[in-house]
Parts: sequence; C-alpha cells; structure tokens
Amino acid sequence: MTQAEPAVAPASAGSERLRTALASKQARVAVVGLGFAGLPQAVVIAEAGFTVTGIDVDGERVAQLARGESYITDVTADQLHALRRTGHFHATTEAAALTEADCVVVCVPTGITAERRPVLDALERALGTIADTVRPPALVIIESSVPPGTTRRVARLLDSHGSGNDDRGGAAPGERVFVAHAPERIDPGNRQYGLRETPRVVGGETAAALDLARQFYAQCGVTTVPVASVEVAELTKVFENTFRFVNISLVNELAQIATALNVSAWEVLEAASTKPYGFMPHEPGPGVGGSCIPVIPFFLADVAERLGAPSHLIAAAERVNTFMPQYVTDRAAALLGRRDGDLAGCHILVLGVTYKPDQSDCRHSPAVPVVERLIAAGATVRVHDPLVTEAAGLHPAASFAPLTAEVVAAADLVVVVTPHRSLDYELVLSHARCILDTRNALRDRAAPNVVPL
Ligand SMILES: NC(=O)c1ccc[n+]([C@@H]2O[C@H](COP(=O)([O-])OP(=O)(O)OC[C@H]3O[C@@H](n4cnc5c(N)ncnc54)[C@H](O)[C@@H]3O)[C@@H](O)[C@H]2O)c1
Repeated sequence: MTQAEPAVAPASAGSERLRTALASKQARVAVVGLGFAGLPQAVVIAEAGFTVTGIDVDGERVAQLARGESYITDVTADQLHALRRTGHFHATTEAAALTEADCVVVCVPTGITAERRPVLDALERALGTIADTVRPPALVIIESSVPPGTTRRVARLLDSHGSGNDDRGGAAPGERVFVAHAPERIDPGNRQYGLRETPRVVGGETAAALDLARQFYAQCGVTTVPVASVEVAELTKVFENTFRFVNISLVNELAQIATALNVSAWEVLEAASTKPYGFMPHEPGPGVGGSCIPVIPFFLADVAERLGAPSHLIAAAERVNTFMPQYVTDRAAALLGRRDGDLAGCHILVLGVTYKPDQSDCRHSPAVPVVERLIAAGATVRVHDPLVTEAAGLHPAASFAPLTAEVVAAADLVVVVTPHRSLDYELVLSHARCILDTRNALRDRAAPNVVPL
C-alpha cells in the first residue's frame, strides 16, 4: 500500500450489503464491453462462481457468444460452453440488464485520434448508460485504460444522470455507487501470466470503493495492489505502457546503430541480458502494435501537456518507432541491391500481419505501414498470415496468398513481420531466396538465406 492510502472505510448500509453479496458470490456482475480485455475478464469472474452478464453493443459478438463461439484467441469455446451449462455467463446487447447488477466492470475501448489525442466517447457513453440504469448500491470498476484524471471526472456522470440512480443524489461521493479504477494488464497469449496470475493495481474514488473492489478481485482469485487514489492507478497503467514504448524505441535505435556497425543487435541484447541487475531486455522489431503500447503513452503525453509538465521522451520514442516500417523497407532495398530504394519489379512476401505472434488482433499492426512503404517504393507485395485473411487498413494492392513452395519461391524477398508459431518455417527456409527476419524468429536455425533486422 502506498503511503497516502485512504483511511479505513466507514461502513455504510450500501457497502455492507455489497460486501455480503461479494462474500457469498451472490453479487450479480455485469461486464460492459466484451472485447480482447472484457471477454477473458468476464470468463474469469464467471469461473470464480459469480453470475455474469456480458453487455456489448456489437450484436454479432453477442450472437457468437450465444452460439458458444469465441472470437478471442485466449477464450476457448469449451470454456464458454461450460459456463453456459452452469448458467454463470450469458451475453446481451440490452443495457437494461444493468438494473440487476451489483457490480459493473467496464471494459469498453479507449483510444486516440490521428492527432494523438485521447478518445473516450465509448467510456462516457457506457458510464451514461450505467448511470441511467444501475440501481444503487453498486460497485462500478473501470478497467479500461484512461488518461489520469478521467475516472474521477466520469464518475460524476453517475451523479448527474438518470432516474434509476436517484439514490446517489445528495449522498456523499461513493456512498451509493462506489467507483474504482483497476486498469487491465492483460497480455493476450501470455501463458505464464494470465489474468489470475497478474496482480491488479486498484484505486478507489473513496476508501469504501477501494475495499469493495479489492474484495471483488480477491473473490475472483486475483491479488490486488491497492494504491492511494484512482489517479495513482491511472498513472501506473499509462506509465507501464509508456515504459515499454520508450524502451522498445531504444532497442529499435540500437538495431539501426548495430547494423551500421555491422554487428548483431540481438547478440548485444543477449550479452547485456547476462547482467544480473539493472537491465531489462526489450526486442527491436518493425514497429509497435496493439491497442495499448502505441496508444496509451499518448494519454500520458496529453495530460502532461495540459499540466505544463514535460514528456519529451514519448515524442522521441514515437519518432523512432514510427520510422521502423521505413527502416524495414530500406533494409529490404539494400538486400535486393536497390541502393536508390526503388523496389519497382521486386516481389516481396510479408509473413504475419497481426500485431502480435499467435494472436488474431490486427489493431495498429506494424505490418500495415510496412506493406504500405514497400508498395510505395514500387514493390509487388503478397502477404500471408495463418490466423487472418484480412486486416483493416492493409493496402488494397497487397494480396493475401497461401503459404506454398511456389509462393515463397516466387518472392525475391520474404519479410517476417509477425512470427506466428504456426508458420511453416521449414518450408520458408527451404524455398526462400532471402529472408529479412524483423523479429529474429529464426535465430535458432542458422541458415545462409536469413538476415535479422
Ligand atoms: N487488448 C488488450 O490487450 C488490452 C490490454 C490492456 C488494457 N486494455 C484496455 O481495455 C480496454 C478495452 O480494450 P479491448 O482491447 O478489449 O477493446 P475491444 O475493441 O476489443 O473491445 C471493446 C468492446 O466494447 C464494446 N463496446 C464499445 N462501446 C460499448 C458500450 N458503450 N457499451 C457496451 N459495449 C461497448 C465493443 O463493441 C467491443 O466489443 C481499452 O481501454 C484498452 O486500452 C486492452
């Protein structure tokens, strides 16, 4: 617990009712937003023995869940079927289901504009609906990533909205609807650290909200790290992602310096990693992707700018990371003997278009700008990904192709962008003329036709 922990919560009738309902797992839980973060979270809560209603505005996703189909790699159809059999989970598009909820977990998307400004409209809409619908006493936990200052601001929506919530009117903050922020730390595909194995940072709008949120996660088998306020929890999350963003940019720069020096950045990183203290390895690559690393640091930059505080490193890191697709293109041109960078007449096969190995999520995937740069340089580009057959934003001139000996052999260069485990690397190695391996995925297969980034 940090030093400025809120004082021990004075019990109220509302918090006592919630505490009893959480202790017996009779509390009814609603998870709002059933995406990459919300669906696995809903499953963990339901598997802990709570009855969970998942609410999503996407009717297609809700219909898939009703059929027991999962659209998230980390949630299996078997898990959904088991939860349907026990009646512990069902999904709906009906926000009216919130009237039954004692605890609402908010996992709606947050993002940034093209100008790198926070976009919080889905969160504000969801909070407005919750305010109109939920019946106090209730615990509302915001798990979506937000710029520091947001939780306290949007919690006020719970005061100003709707008829269903008039119990809160005039009550002390948190007396009726208890608001906490417990930012998602999910790492899709991470088999070692799932939701249950990753401690949860929790801040409460009030001490009572913090206590209730901690009790809720404890009942789900999740360890919590209580912090002094919702702002500490918010800043912790955005700092974690910024730490990754900045360090990835540092190794991306290292990759460029090492190549200029004609040494292997990967060997340098391996050697540096033998230092038993004070070094944490990050890996270079074609850029950063996903809904968090390329997005959340700008929540920090935005709030810093508003407060007149510095955030120079975020801007510098962005310049380095967004240059990487061009760097990959420059390396491709050099490997193809095109010193002027003109790739006209070159056939390039890009392997992997999702942002992360073994995941089907294409959001902010660096494959999109890599393909764009290659095509802009004149190349003819084919792409292959064993997990997806389309990717939003991918250049229309890039065609998806199956991974066959003919397709590989027809390429002047193969560029590994996202090294899925299910890619047939033996086939690629035996038929490719040259492979630019942007993730050093083939490090263990010393082959003359492989060049790491
Ligand atoms: N994906 C990750 O790996 C990850 C990791 C850590 C944190 N997060 C954070 O979790 C939050 C959710 O991200 P995600 O990746 O799950 O997004 P997502 O786009 O995969 O899922 C969000 C879901 O919310 C639904 N939705 C949107 N508005 C809604 C509303 N008003 N009411 C009900 N449903 C609504 C969408 O239809 C969608 O199904 C974000 O703040 C993100 O930063 C995500």
